[in-house]
Amino acid sequence: MPFHSNESDFDTLHQVSDHLYCYLTKFLFNGTVPLNNRSIVVHLPFAQGGDIAIINPAELSPKVLASLKSLEQSTGAKIKYLISPGDWHYLFIGAYLKEFPEATAYVPPGRIPSKNPKYPFSLIDITVENPFPQLRPYLEVLNFRGMRDVEDPQKIRPRYELAFYHPESKAFTTADIFMYTGVGEMSAGFKAAGLRFGVLEFHFMKATMILDSEAVAQSIGKILAWKPENYICQHGGLGNMIAGGVCHQLEDLRQWALGLDLTSSKGHA
Ligand SMILES: [Fe+2]
Repeated sequence: MPFHSNESDFDTLHQVSDHLYCYLTKFLFNGTVPLNNRSIVVHLPFAQGGDIAIINPAELSPKVLASLKSLEQSTGAKIKYLISPGDWHYLFIGAYLKEFPEATAYVPPGRIPSKNPKYPFSLIDITVENPFPQLRPYLEVLNFRGMRDVEDPQKIRPRYELAFYHPESKAFTTADIFMYTGVGEMSAGFKAAGLRFGVLEFHFMKATMILDSEAVAQSIGKILAWKPENYICQHGGLGNMIAGGVCHQLEDLRQWALGLDLTSSKGHA
């Protein structure tokens, strides 16, 4: 099945490709910025129907809940993995645990545990390259290195973000490592940060968000080694994805990271 980015509406389960689905929910960042949240649903077709992983579990509306229950029925798979894609995504996972008792919530250490989410979770192992080897060969996961937690006054704590690759559809997805606007109007904040429409960009805080630019370049290189063709953005308007040709955009970002001189921003000048 080809890669389909044409989502029809919010809160609607959309089949992107074989074994790959998503749904977009309305979300105002800080109560004002219409960032939205896109959840990625991966059917892992192991034996006995297999398992389902949800990356970036977003607000669970009754309509989405009914679609997910129906997907469990039609595939024979159970939702087992609720994975936060990074340090800023955790608000809605608790609701899923109540509805899908076989599921486990996974969050990175650091910021999210410090927010004391009111639900049980397992910590993602950030010391290894792939913290979810059990999802192979249907899903690859990468601990993306080199980003900085800008909330840390010491400016030394890493920001934990993950990249995910679905080999069958040649699609990768991330939450807040990259920013992308390929549909609708670009937000004023993105415009002010100099982001370009239709171009895969690094986080809008650019180099300020980077602790180690070589590690960032290496991580982008690891995503490139997957040879992805398509990108699913976890924010943005309906259909905010890149269908084909994402590799050269990633290579541009890798080169940008390699060329950064962070000496002054680290205060070592
Ligand atoms: Fe985000």
